[in-house]
Amino acid sequence: MAIKGTLKLPGDKSISHRALMFAALADGESRISDLSTGTDVHSTRKCLEACGIDIRDDGDDAIVKGSLFSNPAEPLDCGNSGTTIRLLLGLLAGQGINATFIGDESLSARPMNRILDPLSQMGLKCENNDGKLPVTIYQSNLNSIEYDSPIASAQVKSAILLAGLGASGVTTVIEPALSRDHTEKMLQGLGAEFSFNGLTATVSPLISPLESFKLSVPGDSSTGAFFAAAAAMIPGSSIIIDRILWNPTRIGFYSTLYQMGAGVDCMGQWDEAGERIGKLNVFYQSLKGVHITKEDIPGLIDELPIIAILATQAEGKTEVSGAGELRVKECDRIHAICSNLERMGADIEESQDGFIIHGPKQLNGAEIETFHDHRIAMAFTIAGLVANGDVMLDYPECASISFPEFYNELERLKQ
Ligand code: S3P
Repeated sequence: MAIKGTLKLPGDKSISHRALMFAALADGESRISDLSTGTDVHSTRKCLEACGIDIRDDGDDAIVKGSLFSNPAEPLDCGNSGTTIRLLLGLLAGQGINATFIGDESLSARPMNRILDPLSQMGLKCENNDGKLPVTIYQSNLNSIEYDSPIASAQVKSAILLAGLGASGVTTVIEPALSRDHTEKMLQGLGAEFSFNGLTATVSPLISPLESFKLSVPGDSSTGAFFAAAAAMIPGSSIIIDRILWNPTRIGFYSTLYQMGAGVDCMGQWDEAGERIGKLNVFYQSLKGVHITKEDIPGLIDELPIIAILATQAEGKTEVSGAGELRVKECDRIHAICSNLERMGADIEESQDGFIIHGPKQLNGAEIETFHDHRIAMAFTIAGLVANGDVMLDYPECASISFPEFYNELERLKQ
């Protein structure tokens, strides 16, 4: 069996969330095509609708009518989605909304102080459950802030910038390393008074709505990584990934894959709506181990589960360090990666902020605990393609958080 053909990617999840939120702040109707079909983005849509934003479908497009926000009648259910809650906390705080946020078991265990601390410094009045959900925010007059963020997190940065749109003066966020910069690109492109330079982003309060827009969301580079890894590991494989988001802050996985020895050929690149997009050919070539350190992490944070699978098939040692953030994702991903790969017979050693893998190693089928984490489910499905025996996931359905069509698409590309 090999992986061959042209991959049809869903719209990028990070850009989809932001497109819905910025369209809600815009003057008139925006049309968004190729929105992510995952339940996370659906959560954002439902929350915006609960705050009075009118969103309707027109064929496969979503039409969003920008307007003032209203207080939701019920708690906002953010489901499994960290981006939904963290960005909406900032956005709704800036719009003077009273709202309670809830989520599923995984989201309810994740830290919210990274957002609530800076927002409180801006003057937000809120209640929370010891830094966790449920969180209630109350209408407050926000001051501007210059915030030196301790973590390179696009969710933290975006939440503060979005709150800054409704603050009394100029808001600045300084990151320790550059995280994904879609918020910055969109704010600038849609007419906000905004500047960014290296690790510093500055926004002024919005005095008139953003410009409405038409956007076709580029393909999700994080979802593409699972298929690219399959093609890179299985002899005879070669896939084309067209219209993939090729933003420099999102392609650390593809640079790593190339460094590991896989065939990664960018066949073309162009710009659309301020974002770089590419057409990619990924094909099998034998792999070697790689060293990933703290500086590399923001550019491939979501791809570390699938990098671990690749490392089991690569010659030599792969070491990942500085990735402590993985412990507070949809699950403790360091534990999920290490415990499941051990069950499959990999040579893996867990550390506080990463792992070390020695390869190549023939993986065996095993029962996999997904922890209801979409990226763990998808990574171990790909591991199953190179294993002796069956990989059985306890909850394969969780792939629909980012890509409901994942299993069908994989079946279609198997030859
Ligand atoms: C995201 C930012 C990242 C990433 C998440 C999506 C975003 O989280 O892991 O999947 O869209 O802003 P952090 O900002 O917490 O690193």
